[in-house]
Order: sequence, then C-alpha cells, then structure tokens
Amino acid sequence: MKINSLRPLTGEGRKLFIETYGCQMNAGDSEIVVSIMQQEGYRYTENIDEADIILINTCSIRDNAEQRIWGRLSAMRQLKRRKPSLIVGIIGCMAERLKEQLIEKGTGVDIVAGPDSYRSLPELVRTAEDGTKGINVELSKEETYAEIAPVRLDRNGVSAFIAIMRGCNNYCAYCVVPYTRGIERSRDPQTIVAEARTLFENGYREVTLLGQNVNSYSFGEVGFPELMAMVAEISPLLRVRFATSHPKDISDRLLEVMARYDNICKAIHLPAQSGSNEMLGKMNRKYTREWYLERIAAIRRYMPDCAISTDLIAGFCGETLEDHQQTLSLMKEVGYASAFMFKYSERPGTFSARHFEDDIADDEKTRRLNEIIALQNSLSVVSNEAEIGKVRQVLVEGTSKRSDEQMCGRTSQNKMVIFDRGDHKAGDYITVKITSCSSATLFGEEIFE
Ligand code: SAH
Ligand code: SF4
Ligand code: F3S
Repeated sequence: MKINSLRPLTGEGRKLFIETYGCQMNAGDSEIVVSIMQQEGYRYTENIDEADIILINTCSIRDNAEQRIWGRLSAMRQLKRRKPSLIVGIIGCMAERLKEQLIEKGTGVDIVAGPDSYRSLPELVRTAEDGTKGINVELSKEETYAEIAPVRLDRNGVSAFIAIMRGCNNYCAYCVVPYTRGIERSRDPQTIVAEARTLFENGYREVTLLGQNVNSYSFGEVGFPELMAMVAEISPLLRVRFATSHPKDISDRLLEVMARYDNICKAIHLPAQSGSNEMLGKMNRKYTREWYLERIAAIRRYMPDCAISTDLIAGFCGETLEDHQQTLSLMKEVGYASAFMFKYSERPGTFSARHFEDDIADDEKTRRLNEIIALQNSLSVVSNEAEIGKVRQVLVEGTSKRSDEQMCGRTSQNKMVIFDRGDHKAGDYITVKITSCSSATLFGEEIFE
C-alpha cells in the first residue's frame, strides 16, 4: 500500500463497486481504476449493496448504449435514497461526451471523469465526499497508464486483455470514439511485455493486445508486428491475440509474423462496416471493397486456416438497397466466421451527424439488419461445419455453461468448443477432434496422439 506522508490514506477501507459497459478497452480501464483506488486505500467489492462508492464506466458508441446508462442512473438515485452518503460517479466515454450535463440537477451523479483522468479519481471522490461535485474530462496526448498494474476483475485466470494503445485518429464519419478517447498514443513496449510475462507467470495462457486500431501501434522503433513477436517470444505456451485492426493498414509484415508463430492465434477481426464503395467513402474508411478483398486474399495466402470476423453497419446515411446488397455480397464472398452487426445510430458532433442526413427509417434499418444477421447465421453454420472432423488444440477456459460434466475452451481460430470434463482444468491445452456443431459452438472429443 502506498504511504503518503503529507496526507492520510483517503480510502480508509471504504468500498468501491464498479459497473462496466462498452468495449474491452473499458473493461481494461475499470481494472486500472480499481488499481488506482486501491492504492489510495479503497477496497473493491462485488456487492453493490455494501458499496460506499459506485462508478459506472460508460459507452457512447450508439444511442441505446447511452439509454441503458440513463436507466442505471435512475436505479442509483433509488439506492441513494436508502444510503444518502453513497457517491455515484460516471466515468468513461459518456462522461467525456456529456461532461457537465451529467451532474446537472436531478441526475444524482457526484463525479464525472473521462478516460484520461482516472489518476484524479481519488481527488474527485474526496471532493464529492466534502459535498462538491467533481468533474475532470480533460483528454491527454500522453496518458497510457503504462506503469499501473491492472487489478484483474474477470478472473477466469486464463485469458487477459492488455491495452497497448489509447485513442483513435481515424475519424470514421459515424464514430464517436475519437471525441471520447482523444488522439492515438502507444504504450511503452517494455511495460507491455512485462505485464504479459507477469500474467504468464501467474498461470495465464492467453493475452489479447487491445487498441482501437492496433496496426498503428508505434513506439520508437517498435511497430505492431515487432510488438506481437516480442509478446509471442515470452513462451510458446502463451497465446497472443489482438483487436482491432483497421483494414486500411493490415500489412503483409504483420501477416508474416502471425504465420511465423504457432502461438499467435489464427483469427483476425477486420471490420468492413459496408460492402459498398459509395458508403465506405462517405464513412471515411479510407479503403475500397476491392482493397478489402485483396487484404482478405493476403490473409488466406499467409494463413489458409485463419478465421475472419467483422463488424457491419446497416442503414448508414443515404444507403440504397443496392448498397445494402453489396454488404450482403461482401459477406458471402468473404465467408465470415462471425460478425458484430449494428443499425446505424447517429452520434451528435460526428462528421455524419453534421454533414449527412440520417435518412433511412428505423424499421427499414431493422429490416436490413435482420437480413444481415440471418445471412451471418448461415455463414457461421458453414464456417463451423467446416471444422467437423478437424483436430484442434484447445485452451481450456472453464466449466461449460450447459453442464458441470463438460468444459469449454477456444481454438486458435477463436471458436468455442465444448468437451467432456475428464481431469482437465482451466489453463490446460488439449487436443480435440471436432465432432459436431451448432451455429455458435463446436463440440469435440479429446484425442491422444
Ligand atoms: N475501432 C474499432 C471499432 C470500435 S467501435 C474499429 O474500427 O474496428 C465497434 C463497432 O461499432 C464499429 O466497428 C462499428 O461497426 C460500430 N459503430 C461505431 N459507431 C457506430 C454508430 N454510430 N452506429 C452504429 N454502429 C457503430
Ligand atoms: Fe471509430 Fe473508426 Fe476509430 Fe474504429 S477506427 S474507433 S470505427 S473512428
Ligand atoms: Fe464504447 Fe467508448 Fe468503447 S464509446 S465502444 S466504450 S471506446
């Protein structure tokens, strides 16, 4: 515990509860926040009813993400009625986007802290405890929380996320992230490798390197392919994954490094967003359908066995039925293993909100989205059926949700496999023959070579 001679320990054992929404970057940030607060003497609790401080780590990516948070805030006001000393803080992307609006009358919020101001949280909590609302939404050009050891909250003890960079400079027309997370900055590779090594020594067997666009990782001489190689060298028993890479700069150099190491997982999440060049141009994605398909071909050249997944947006501004058909045809052409699929949601302040009309009616967006989802379901079945009969190495993650007699784990391709418990435990590698599948899961039997 840190001893600061000028000031008594401020937390004095008071209990912190944290609720996390949004992407894996937010999940990682919550672990940093808990670490910062623990150093100041606060204790982490998983029980909201005993909390003295509740922090909600929020997401602004689509309107429905924010609506959920407003719902949670009304629940928080009820908790405060029962326990008036309770401090409620909004942190994360919605804090950055809405700033003071979140502490205006009636919300019940005491603290607002944006993604780059978590070091000031103990100070903000103290201010709030003195009865003044605390806000810090300053974005930074340098903050990476590089030396803060995250307190692992997910605790499957097998796989962990490591943030390698923060922010985004891409300004896709629809996207709020550059405004909520600020400019891109990369974290010192030595601190990344040290964190991965510590995880490995503590029994972890898989790390996912995280950033909004990991391909732009750059710190001194070290680019993303070099960083991947450095982490992969820690041990052949440590699997390495990453998310997310932008299609415009997925380089041959990276594909070459991925192919070279068995422990770099053969799965790439490559968000296409749309199959139409018209839409891709308006979205400011900086690649064409043809470029994207050439990159897919490159992935398959280097790694014939690599699973490819994507993100897609239905009903972007001015999207015609022909544009929508182009998205469906791209999906078929690539044959995605899985996809995250969304209806376009206008975000205030973004380029598309300022310059384009959100002109596709909501029920039409829903209809297009449903078509996309139905097609992906069938593509996922095709992708899973192609696994039947194959022999795969699986990293055991834990007990299957369906039955205590079975366990689950992932293949290098990131597909979940269910198999009999045997005497396996989380963190083991086993060899499995895939025997059957559903659209979401594979089923397999252990084989002994
Ligand atoms: N940095 C990542 C994506 C982060 S956001 C990348 O570029 O790959 C995750 C996904 O949310 C995006 O890929 C996009 O498909 C979706 N998304 C972002 N803004 C959106 C909006 N305004 N409406 C609907 N979906 C959106
Ligand atoms: Fe948003 Fe585009 Fe940046 Fe991804 S790359 S976070 S979609 S602006
Ligand atoms: Fe949401 Fe912020 Fe992540 S807007 S998706 S939590 S970067």
